[in-house]
Amino acid sequence: MNSELSNPNFEILLSAEEIREKVKELGAQITKDYAGKKPIFIGILKGACLFLSDLIREVDLQLSLEFMSVSSYGKAQKSTGEVRIIKDLEIAVEGEDLIVVEDIVDTGLTLSYLLQNLQSRGANSVKLCSLLDKPEPRIVKDLKIDYSGFQVPNKFVVGYGLDAAERYRNLPFIAVVKNPDEI
Ligand code: IMP
Ligand code: MG
Repeated sequence: MNSELSNPNFEILLSAEEIREKVKELGAQITKDYAGKKPIFIGILKGACLFLSDLIREVDLQLSLEFMSVSSYGKAQKSTGEVRIIKDLEIAVEGEDLIVVEDIVDTGLTLSYLLQNLQSRGANSVKLCSLLDKPEPRIVKDLKIDYSGFQVPNKFVVGYGLDAAERYRNLPFIAVVKNPDEI
């Protein structure tokens, strides 16, 4: 049996139930803060897609959905802050209220580039919503996470959209990989 769900190399950090509760809270907060507005949710592929799809169902607003895909160079060795847009927005965002939805912020380099890039297109507002915040490796210290789900320790986590070499995105929980060499 090679079950992905009961891998002994996982230590469950956040259960499906805990995630569900938090997503509800975040959705309620966004609903309140954006009352009367029509925000555009921008999901960052691929990691944020599970979070995004659950989140928008907890938001009671007239919203729309867009996606972007970015890749940061030299992630494994040394982060340079250089970011490449692999899939860009298909719409102009001038005057719009944008909520960028990400799975996890660690160095913050990708997000800091992206938020500035979106702001420079003339958006009315650009806010960041991240399910996870891994503060320890942060390089961009002043990056503001407007809507943050959970702080996590400086360990590699998988599940609920987060992958290890494209695997484990489908896990309904978030787990720490105990031994990353055994993935
Ligand atoms: P950064 O904040 O620019 O360093 O990049 C964050 C990105 O790195 C996230 O969007 C994830 O794709 C990836 N990442 C960072 N930490 C983890 C982790 O623990 N598990 C899986 N992916 C991670
Ligand atoms: Mg990501």
